[in-house]
Amino acid sequence: MIADLQGKVAIVTGGANGIGRATCVAFAQAGARVAVIDQDAAGANATCDAIRQSGGEAIAVAADVGDAVQVRHYVQTTLAAWGRIDALFNNAGIGGVQSPVVDYPPEVFERVLRVNLIGTLLGMQGVLPGMIAQGSGAIVNMASVSGNVGAPTMCAYSASKHAVIGLTRTTAAEVGRQGVRVNAVCPGPIDTDLMDALHRGINPQEPDAVKAFNVGRNPMGRYGDPAEVAKVVVFLASDGASFVNGAAWVIDGGRTAI
Ligand SMILES: NC(=O)c1ccc[n+]([C@@H]2O[C@H](COP(=O)([O-])OP(=O)(O)OC[C@H]3O[C@@H](n4cnc5c(N)ncnc54)[C@H](O)[C@@H]3O)[C@@H](O)[C@H]2O)c1
Repeated sequence: MIADLQGKVAIVTGGANGIGRATCVAFAQAGARVAVIDQDAAGANATCDAIRQSGGEAIAVAADVGDAVQVRHYVQTTLAAWGRIDALFNNAGIGGVQSPVVDYPPEVFERVLRVNLIGTLLGMQGVLPGMIAQGSGAIVNMASVSGNVGAPTMCAYSASKHAVIGLTRTTAAEVGRQGVRVNAVCPGPIDTDLMDALHRGINPQEPDAVKAFNVGRNPMGRYGDPAEVAKVVVFLASDGASFVNGAAWVIDGGRTAI
């Protein structure tokens, strides 16, 4: 077991697929009750089913993380079910389109910021009052290696992830004395639908060639598995990380180390 989260309550956004689903399962394996949030209601229900079949407790709430009313709804639904929130993983995110900055569509740029950045802000605003009142809590925000370095043709995505790191550090500095820790994770590349879409966007004829190129540049010679991100997130949400605050943990097999 990665950590003991028995009796704790965790919210995971984007929990229907990819890294989010793996993290929901990992939280449940650590003993937490899990609220699975996603705009993909069927996928969120499937994640809940997987958790319940293994003896865990989970609820699914369909929500767009970029919508303040829907964020309040998922927070209230979780509190109504279990009365507290100990951890939030702000993971839901989108890539946008691939285009140079010079003609990147501003409406897509805004939507990427709405989901990746404003969604993260709204999630934290939803849970922080309760965490501060109980004097404990851990938030993990999903950034990316693209939050540390540029990502040619993905300016909205990279800008949003850089901003998530700034938001994380600032919030960590504000709430640390109130018993709440706030950290970010910076994965990449991880085998998920989001990366598949990116491969197709870069080279619709030969998406596998894009992946092969990325694998060739990685010191570990492979993509990461969603479960390898989930383990780090659950650790950061646990008492094992009790003095980790305002950090942005890279999980990239060494890709940005070279
Ligand atoms: N895959 C990678 O290599 C990689 C690397 C770094 C960071 N990330 C980040 O990890 C997060 C998860 O991505 P993934 O790779 O698992 O992709 P994914 O596409 O498999 O999962 C993303 C999930 O977020 C949900 N979602 C998207 N917009 C939403 C919204 N507005 N409201 C609610 N849910 C929404 C989707 O329905 C989906 O279930 C994203 O924030 C992504 O930027 C991924």
